[in-house]
Amino acid sequence: MMKKKGDKILRHTASERINHWVVVIVFLFTAISGLGFFFPSLNWFMNILGTPELSRLLHPFVGSAMAILFIFMFFRYLKYNFIDKDDLVWAKNIHKVLQNEEAGDIGHYNLGQKGIYWMLSISLILLTVSGIIIWRPYFAEYFSIPVIRIALLVHSLSAILLIITVFVHAYAAFWVKGSIRSMIEGWVTRGWAKKHHPRWYREILEEEKKEAEKKSQK
Ligand code: HEM
Repeated sequence: MMKKKGDKILRHTASERINHWVVVIVFLFTAISGLGFFFPSLNWFMNILGTPELSRLLHPFVGSAMAILFIFMFFRYLKYNFIDKDDLVWAKNIHKVLQNEEAGDIGHYNLGQKGIYWMLSISLILLTVSGIIIWRPYFAEYFSIPVIRIALLVHSLSAILLIITVFVHAYAAFWVKGSIRSMIEGWVTRGWAKKHHPRWYREILEEEKKEAEKKSQK
């Protein structure tokens, strides 16, 4: 259904959306090739970047691209992801949330989204640091065998953490109707904002009021 122009609120700018979907693409390439290296039954995943040899060569570069592109997302969204007292109300009422009702005076993101943000950030830091340590032929020679072994373990565990977190994140995004559109087209309806993020919606109304006052003074 076509929405009236005034009903739309911008939630993600074009550059945020492009940044997000490029990260998703590089995540898929890295995760699929990585799963191919790890599980013998999934060895055929190694063809995702052309051939198994190419995948082995490109995986660390594509992974680095994901880490670098995520840094922009990290700083863009950091201010919305600090936990506050309304998040505890949300957590206490998680049973309501699972029945698709809202709980607490939610701002830009709810506690679930904030948790995802921090899990993504932590797993990507661990993946990047451990990935550099095990990266042959460039960096691994500077580290001892025991350090490389620990890094391999950290790399595998944090990769699994990242993949599970992305699955939960994508599931939640499809579950809350209107979310995916906000990351594709950029906008949400006023009803969506009021229902899912009431405190953020009030902030938008405040901004609109200030804008209108400025215009009327001109
Ligand atoms: C197919 C997979 C994915 C889908 C469908 C998806 C979908 C979405 C949607 C709809 C939003 C907007 C949520 C809102 O504004 O309320 C979002 C936000 C976000 N996404 Fe994804 N995403 C996917 C994969 C990823 C990956 C791989 C990463 C990073 C490794 C990522 C990182 C983020 C971050 C950091 C945010 C901002 C939310 C926050 O700060 O809590 N997403 N995603």
